[in-house]
Amino acid sequence: MGKTIIISNRLPVQLQISNGTLNAIPSVGGLATGMKSVHSGGESLWIGWSGLTDEDTPEELEDDIDKALKEHGCAKVKLNSDEIDGFYYGFSNRTIWPLFHYFLKYSEFELNYWDTYKAVNQKFADAIIENSDEDDTIWVHDYQLMLVPQMVREKRPNTTIGFFLHIPFPSFEIFRTLPWRDEILEGLLGSDLIGFHTYDYERHFLSSVRRLLGLDVSFNEIYLDNRVIKVDSFPMGIDYKKFRDAALSHDSKSNEERSDLQVRLDNHKASTPDAKLILSIDRLDYSKGIAKRINAFEYFLQKYPEYKEKVRLIILAVPSRSNVPQYQLLKREVDELVGRINGELSTVNWTPIWYFYRSLPFESLIDLYTSSDIAWLTPLRDGMNLVAKEYIATRTDKSGVLILSEMAGSAYEMNEALLINPNNFEQQADTLKRAFNMPMEEQVSRNTFLQKRLERYNVEVWANEFMRSLKEKRDLGKAFISE
Ligand code: ADP
Ligand code: G6P
Repeated sequence: MGKTIIISNRLPVQLQISNGTLNAIPSVGGLATGMKSVHSGGESLWIGWSGLTDEDTPEELEDDIDKALKEHGCAKVKLNSDEIDGFYYGFSNRTIWPLFHYFLKYSEFELNYWDTYKAVNQKFADAIIENSDEDDTIWVHDYQLMLVPQMVREKRPNTTIGFFLHIPFPSFEIFRTLPWRDEILEGLLGSDLIGFHTYDYERHFLSSVRRLLGLDVSFNEIYLDNRVIKVDSFPMGIDYKKFRDAALSHDSKSNEERSDLQVRLDNHKASTPDAKLILSIDRLDYSKGIAKRINAFEYFLQKYPEYKEKVRLIILAVPSRSNVPQYQLLKREVDELVGRINGELSTVNWTPIWYFYRSLPFESLIDLYTSSDIAWLTPLRDGMNLVAKEYIATRTDKSGVLILSEMAGSAYEMNEALLINPNNFEQQADTLKRAFNMPMEEQVSRNTFLQKRLERYNVEVWANEFMRSLKEKRDLGKAFISE
């Protein structure tokens, strides 16, 4: 039995060089935070991009980089800035990301981006071949690397390859608009098993395979030449224990041990005991519906002015993909909205919105989760949304209300949350009021169900189920060949 090779564009750590010194900082985003828990417990090798371009990397630091990555069980794929422009900022984040999140109007179909995407996917495939043996199991992740499974298959026809998509797979009507739709499907079909977060994404994918490639599809299996490819849904969980334990040790901190952020949050509570904190945490991404959420908050305060000075919205937006114009525009829009609303509504004692545009350490995330009465997450489209799950896991006394967009993959498993349509301001204003007034018994009852489910179906179980299904598929394939 060989080892497991994890492969994704983003590694669990990002390397940075400041004043000639190399630093490794934890990566943000569902893929990295989720897979990190899986990787740290096992014997896997994780291959990906270090976060540094060739141009940013002095030759004398190459060995230090390899050493730093090795400490985290990682190996790098080297990329230059043209490759990052065309592959990462280009095809991945200006073509596929918007298209797969139903932002068709933002999606750019540029031949240059596509050519670079192909070339860089080949680099990742070559790195797998170089770093693995025939009997290793290859697990490829996400939309940046959709051609990799077939590229590896060409060189290693009998290797076991799994692929997991961390974002939605769009409906056939959206997907068919992509000029390179057949090549993307063919790339994915190099896998033995293809996993999605939800059954709907799986269904959309199968429908595209049937209608665009005309392949034989039976239930969740695709027949291609002499191979059978299995497709299934595996909703990703969180490292429940890590969040739970962090919240428990947070609860037992003495006054002296509190962070500055926690002191600020506690002061808010002490000075306005009737007031409630509403939390939202996302990467600054148009798919997360941040600007709409701020508008909906303003609408809520117009519709129910009695809540002025009684609620405060905390927005933690993590900088993301800031070279892509849509992200720059969104940053400006959010800055302006927050400035205008705070300018118009603030009083001597009250600022309606606290806005943080930065990445915070894990401990601060826990401060925010544990101190907020309501989490309000309104993606317009989201593959899963792990923040929703993390918030619930940290509620050690089972208090707290989760308001969650029905457009998030996690909504399928979180029926006890208050589910909303992020485009419906009327419904959101009423739901905020309901959350504000929800009796504690009801909060406890809802969160009891949610926590049990999150604890049972945690990220480890998610990864094990995927690997079990992949191995089952491989063993079946071997039995088939030997017959
Ligand atoms: P996405 O993968 O689209 O970014 P998710 O909600 O699925 O959205 O995952 C986001 C992940 O990033 C979560 O695990 C969350 O804990 C982490 N994260 C979000 N904001 C921050 C932050 N400010 N600092 C550190 N980690 C963060
Ligand atoms: C989502 C994607 C990941 C990506 C993450 C952060 O979770 O599914 O593949 O790593 O966002 O985005 P970034 O572009 O910074 O890697």
